[in-house]
Amino acid sequence: MPKKTAASLNANRSSLVHKMRYALRNPGKVAPYVRRSARDLKLRLTHRDHVDYYRAVMASDAARDPKAAVGSQNEERWLALGQMQFDYLIEHGLRPEHRMLDIGCGNLRAGWRLIDYLDTGGYYGIDISPDILIAAKGVLAERGLQDKLPHLTITRDLTFSFLPEGHFDVVHAHSVFSHSPIEVIDECLAHVGRILAPDGFFDFTYDRTEGTEHHVLREDFYYRTDTLLDLATKHGLSARFMEDWEERPHGQSKIRVTVKG
Ligand SMILES: C[S@@+](CC[C@H](N)C(=O)[O-])C[C@H]1O[C@@H](n2cnc3c(N)ncnc32)[C@H](O)[C@@H]1O
Repeated sequence: MPKKTAASLNANRSSLVHKMRYALRNPGKVAPYVRRSARDLKLRLTHRDHVDYYRAVMASDAARDPKAAVGSQNEERWLALGQMQFDYLIEHGLRPEHRMLDIGCGNLRAGWRLIDYLDTGGYYGIDISPDILIAAKGVLAERGLQDKLPHLTITRDLTFSFLPEGHFDVVHAHSVFSHSPIEVIDECLAHVGRILAPDGFFDFTYDRTEGTEHHVLREDFYYRTDTLLDLATKHGLSARFMEDWEERPHGQSKIRVTVKG
């Protein structure tokens, strides 16, 4: 994955001009994009609510390949992306005794390493997709991590109403807000402060644009950093852009949210 360039940060991927230029540069990607657009249109027409729609997208993608469904085209990339998330968390405060909530845990790309690292019962993964959670249980078994007794739970919203107050030292959402409309992010930021421990933090990634905010097929959403920082502030949280995440070879950016400054 290339580092972010001014051109990529200013691109509006939903515009016709961008799509035509991209198609000319990548003719081999046109047919798969057309197929995906047709499938997504059908799913949008049959699932009007975003979570229902995205759950159906995940069901379709996971049926083909769970690793590709979370965005990694092969085993090597899947392992590397999980390692990148894990290393960053370790370098930025995660400790074995911490209690961690992984929002949109997928098939445990980072989760299996986190489960292995954390004390027994310390990992709590939630996801909207039953299909990817079934794949997650497969990864858990393959990695021999049954004794770590992680929680893997389906959710349909991000109100966290079933979780205890002040419980989690670390909350994490990697490549989740990049697939979320602003109402979903707003809901998460409105409620995450309640479940964070006083010194806890919430790290999330997002697809950053420095141009116009937009989405592609209601699958990929691009936000300006200030929009997300302001949203966190509106909910009484402190938020900062994680500058050193930009050094990683990853297309998204990262923000850290805390309850106090
Ligand atoms: C690109 S995958 C990333 C999975 C995992 N975080 C990782 O890095 O491997 C996005 C995941 O977020 C889940 N997801 C999307 N929207 C969600 C939401 N509103 N609440 C919880 N999970 C969500 C999807 O089902 C999917 O498993």
